[in-house]
Amino acid sequence: MKATITASARYLPERILTNSDLEKMVDTSDEWIRTRTGIVTRHIVAEGQASSHMATHVANTLLERSGSDPDEIEVIIVATVTPDMLFPATAALVQNNIGATNAWGFDLSGACTGFLYALETGSRLIQSGGYKKVMVIGVDTMSSILDFTDRNTCVLFGDGAGGVLLEPSENSYGFIDSILHTDGSGGAYLLMPGGGSLHPPTHETVDKRMHYIRQDGKIVFKFAVKGMAEVCADILERNGISGKEIKLFIPHQANKRIIDAAAKRCGLTDDQVLININKYGNTTAATIPIGLDEAVEEKRLKTGDLLLLAAFGAGFTWGSMLFRWGFDS
Ligand code: UT7
Repeated sequence: MKATITASARYLPERILTNSDLEKMVDTSDEWIRTRTGIVTRHIVAEGQASSHMATHVANTLLERSGSDPDEIEVIIVATVTPDMLFPATAALVQNNIGATNAWGFDLSGACTGFLYALETGSRLIQSGGYKKVMVIGVDTMSSILDFTDRNTCVLFGDGAGGVLLEPSENSYGFIDSILHTDGSGGAYLLMPGGGSLHPPTHETVDKRMHYIRQDGKIVFKFAVKGMAEVCADILERNGISGKEIKLFIPHQANKRIIDAAAKRCGLTDDQVLININKYGNTTAATIPIGLDEAVEEKRLKTGDLLLLAAFGAGFTWGSMLFRWGFDS
């Protein structure tokens, strides 16, 4: 039995932060941000709005678009590094908000690769034959962990959520293959050091700004270019597929230059690659499902099309997934 995506949804908060807004906050320029990253604007949550709120919007849209009743949903997996709180899980908050009384759920921490880890998990649950409706949501409120005095990081990220409903495939299309990696030796290069059991919150951790994201951009960039390009090439080779056969490549959106390198390695042309980093920045676990929902809205996927997904992020974590799309969008 194959798992297939039967609905997609996204949610972006209303407030937009532009590069010129950031020019007034830190020593940066629109020109630097555009040329080094491809980012022009990003969305930021309203005061009091958190990951569960964005994820609930997505979950409700998935119910509506799939014509599912809340009590039909069996599992809710939320990929995030910015849960509302350490516990209970954001998935539990979403489960309650949408009234999915028969669902169990959990959060999954895979940073920028979180959505792929969650999609793999959800797909395997469906393929086990034990489940028929699994919601997979990627959400991050990166503004809640950004240091808006650090130009190295604050210009890169945005807030948002996206998700899909997975169901057993009726036409044998759907999940084909995945290659997922973790290499914890890269942990020190992209992290939020405070707030966990190693450095619980104290006045000292706050004074040392340990509750903000820290990144050695240059090193992460180097590993991301290599990791994402290789894992895309590997999954194509393992399945005997050439770049030309891919209808759409939806990569994690961290830096346009990383995406371009992966696309080039697989021989993909611009029209095969979905880019929206200009509008949203890096929304961490949400970039891929947001892109997927845009592709569906723009009718870029038809029944039988090959879809390639790939990501690289903190951990390090990285991976790629191949799907044969199951319906005409
Ligand atoms: O999604 C999770 C994974 N994350 C990533 O994949 C991110 C990977 N890294 C990157 O995308 C890039 O490394 C960055 C966009 C973060 C940085 O681009 P870069 O081309 O690697 O720049 P750099 O770090 O080498 O910095 C070049 C210069 C430095 O100045 P000096 O030392 O040459 O004088 C930085 O201080 O640019 C400076 N700089 C900035 N200048 C203006 C760094 N941030 C900014 C900024 N505005 N916002």
